[in-house]
Amino acid sequence: MPHTELLDLATSVATQAADMVARRRREGVAVADRKTSSVDVVTHADRESEQLIRILLAEARPDDGFFGEEGGASVGTSGLTWVVDPIDGTVNYLYGIPHYAVSVAVVEGEPDPATWRALAGAVVNPGARETYTASVGGGSFLDGERLQVAEAVDLSEALVATGFSYLEEMRVEQGQVIAGLLSQVRDIRRMGTASLDLCMVASGRVNAYFERSLNPWDHAAGALIAREAGATVKGRGNNAAGKEFILAAEPSVAVLLGAALARLDA
Ligand code: IPD
Ligand code: CA
Ligand code: CA
Repeated sequence: MPHTELLDLATSVATQAADMVARRRREGVAVADRKTSSVDVVTHADRESEQLIRILLAEARPDDGFFGEEGGASVGTSGLTWVVDPIDGTVNYLYGIPHYAVSVAVVEGEPDPATWRALAGAVVNPGARETYTASVGGGSFLDGERLQVAEAVDLSEALVATGFSYLEEMRVEQGQVIAGLLSQVRDIRRMGTASLDLCMVASGRVNAYFERSLNPWDHAAGALIAREAGATVKGRGNNAAGKEFILAAEPSVAVLLGAALARLDA
């Protein structure tokens, strides 16, 4: 299947789920459960969104695998796996902040960010009515407009997005890193949706983004969108982006920020 068809499918299912999720938001949202900590919540809409995406993909591509945040994984036979965050930015969603997204990516190989090759991805933010898309080698787009990372800047002029874990111990370390970084950059943003942070690197709305302890579904689509817009997307040192660390930025900014974070033991 050509990547354009995979991209069309990713965009279609993410859009249908985003429409449903936004409708549920208007009807009122309640916490269904808590996961890794008391502040890591899941709503009924997260589950409903993942279920809808799973059904739509199974109809269209029955041989592919599925790897979603809420429902776990199923192995396919085609070598392709759909990696899905049914609502990224659930805390924003819960509070009615219109900055959350449905993220759908299709990857080749084992569904492991260390080795997979992302083929296509879509991140849909229904609150802003914005759809980010990318396919490997095909560039990335915001509502059909080609994206390009922001131009190179000094670290002191970089607007840097980041995010924090739901786990207290990790947050203590993350807070220390921010305390050391804040005086070295233009400013810090914690917007609450990792997939959109990566898309905002792609569109030049921020110069850089980094985070520790992300899960594969948080960055599968967004990392491809950032990379296809010209960003470096990497992990610590020469590692691939993953749970340990992810950094995305215009290539020279990525070097400067990577070095600053290494000095802070991030
Ligand atoms: C979270 C968001 C947040 C990031 C967290 C993620 P969720 O995803 O992307 O921005 O800082 O690390 O877990 O729980 O809203 O899907
Ligand atoms: Ca997420
Ligand atoms: Ca989620």
